[in-house]
Amino acid sequence: MMKKILVTYNMFREGFVEMETKYDVTFPEEGRDFTYDEVYEMIEEYDVLCSMFNFPVDKKLLDKGTRLQLVANYAVGYDNIDVAYALEKGMTVANTPDPVTAPTANLALGLMIDAARRITELDRKMRQYGNDLERGILVNLGVSITGKTLGIIGMGRIGKALAKRANACGMEVIYHNRRQLPLEEETRLDVTYVSKEELLATADFVSLNAPHTSDTYHIIGGKELQQMKSSAILINTARGPLVDEAALVKALQQGTIHAAGLDVFEFGDLPLPELLELDNVVLTPHIGTQTDEGRVNMAKAVNNNVIGFLEGDRPVSRVVRP
Ligand code: GLV
Repeated sequence: MMKKILVTYNMFREGFVEMETKYDVTFPEEGRDFTYDEVYEMIEEYDVLCSMFNFPVDKKLLDKGTRLQLVANYAVGYDNIDVAYALEKGMTVANTPDPVTAPTANLALGLMIDAARRITELDRKMRQYGNDLERGILVNLGVSITGKTLGIIGMGRIGKALAKRANACGMEVIYHNRRQLPLEEETRLDVTYVSKEELLATADFVSLNAPHTSDTYHIIGGKELQQMKSSAILINTARGPLVDEAALVKALQQGTIHAAGLDVFEFGDLPLPELLELDNVVLTPHIGTQTDEGRVNMAKAVNNNVIGFLEGDRPVSRVVRP
């Protein structure tokens, strides 16, 4: 019998052409995604679930999916999936690391430059005040990234891609990670391993590039913000819960740190409302991978994971632990 694949989200279809010719694939209609309840009603009939990074694949859904063999997530992150439970049930979970690396690292660099040079803030003020905006050679000053130290927390693919970009901009790069990289790799990337405490105390920019796990939840909270320089800029393109957002609001209001650039938020899609009132924070709505090419490449990676799993003819990017 032809394998049945359920895709929870609406996406450019060009990435899924091969999968659609081989299997019986169900997409939501144009302009909408399937809701959790809809997927719950349908899941029993499907062999493969392709889930979006904000779609909860929980125990209840996994139990209902009695035919389910593979959950292929459209993301590098998989904190939306109860991976431990899926693995325990003998299912495979897959993700899409390669295509997200460059777009996310590019956005992190963009947020660093934006927060440092106040690009979005001054754009907003030019529109708001027009000719009344104060101008002059000593106003609207920003800070430089060149010659500064970037501290990267989480030295996986995205952290490494950001390190290369930062080096090209004349920054020194230090990092903290669960495991130190091999010396040859550190030398090649021109990065130095330090403790989290040293990173927080010395970095001018701190970028979060770690997955969301129980170990990284609130990796930046009130205590860590106090340990950072008052001139420091915090960048988060990873997952919102890595930062205690209420503590960050206070730190930005009180000048404990200088500024922040955030693509992700602790409590879902929206930032805490206090952040919208602050000039020293740049906010984007989770667009780390949101480019035309990025989206199609991620769809191709999901397509390859599904076909590789069902036919064994190509590598599958398997998630091996929660
Ligand atoms: C996006 O957030 C991803 O995890 O790929």
